[in-house]
Amino acid sequence: MENKQAIVMSGIRPTGFLHLGNYFGAVRNYVRMQEEYSCYFMVADWHSLTTHPDTATLKDHVKRVLAENIASGLDPEKVALYCQSHVPETAELYLYLNMMAYKGELEKTVSFKEKVRLQPDNVNAGLLTYPVLQTADIILHRASYVPVGKDQEQHLEMARTFANRFNHRYGEIFPEPYAFNFGEELVKVPSLDGAGKMSKSENQLATLYLADDDELIRKKVMKAKTDSGPTEPNSPKPDYIENIFLLMRLVSEKEVIAKFEADYNGCTIRYGDMKKQLAEDMVRFISPIRAKATDIKNDHKYLQDVMEKGAAKARKSAQVTLALVREAMGLNYY
Ligand code: TRP
Repeated sequence: MENKQAIVMSGIRPTGFLHLGNYFGAVRNYVRMQEEYSCYFMVADWHSLTTHPDTATLKDHVKRVLAENIASGLDPEKVALYCQSHVPETAELYLYLNMMAYKGELEKTVSFKEKVRLQPDNVNAGLLTYPVLQTADIILHRASYVPVGKDQEQHLEMARTFANRFNHRYGEIFPEPYAFNFGEELVKVPSLDGAGKMSKSENQLATLYLADDDELIRKKVMKAKTDSGPTEPNSPKPDYIENIFLLMRLVSEKEVIAKFEADYNGCTIRYGDMKKQLAEDMVRFISPIRAKATDIKNDHKYLQDVMEKGAAKARKSAQVTLALVREAMGLNYY
């Protein structure tokens, strides 16, 4: 599926602080796609207003998320990397799409119902039309491929519905957007406490962030759950031990992993040593990314330049789409 013409679009929530799960799950996918596709990656600052009306921390989060993505290998020369609010064409398309999105179907969205439960005092219209804005983000560039996780599947299904509805009503302009990722399955990065994946909302000590300093990385890894070791040779691994191996496979040398596998199977494994090794390998992996992200985040001139260039690329593509849209809708009066 190698095709520079194929268009990829995805949105990144400006919640700040990428963790290892974001790195291996999302960012590494973007970095691979930038070589083969025409890519638009956007920081969804407008979307964040649906849940974070207080904008005091927004600037910092937008800059951090840009810096951390660039430090992880996203290249602003190769892709359009921009802020949603810098592309006002998004709002116009959102408005048109809102006329085709029905209250009933929006109310049924799982993410909406979840938000109603979490913030009953702020069930705003933006929250209800969140999937409409997301659709506008995507089809603004007539993108077909959207690298996202499973949690976005329903939003993408709605994007297909809205795109098709537009096409039927006014004429074929939009391709159907589909979730797309490299490889069969997204890499899941297990949490350090043996329960679930690394995530922002769960146990903070069980999640490694790209911004964590070396001591904190060591501390978190050393706290990972283990036991007194297997008593029978070649026994199956409990989940929390398998997770430590999974993490090692992400950052350690093959020989190192093979040694601990052999130790495990021979019942001679020392989990303290294994975690020390994993901690050092994590530090070696994370610290250069952290350093690079810090430099970028402090370079306001560079970040401004990235955002301006990204917005210019995005607006160019958006304006072509909107000219087609207005024409199709009959909003061309002369
Ligand atoms: N809703 C997405 C999330 O929560 C973020 C997002 C906004 C997005 N616009 C998008 C993702 C467009 C893909 C395409 O992660």
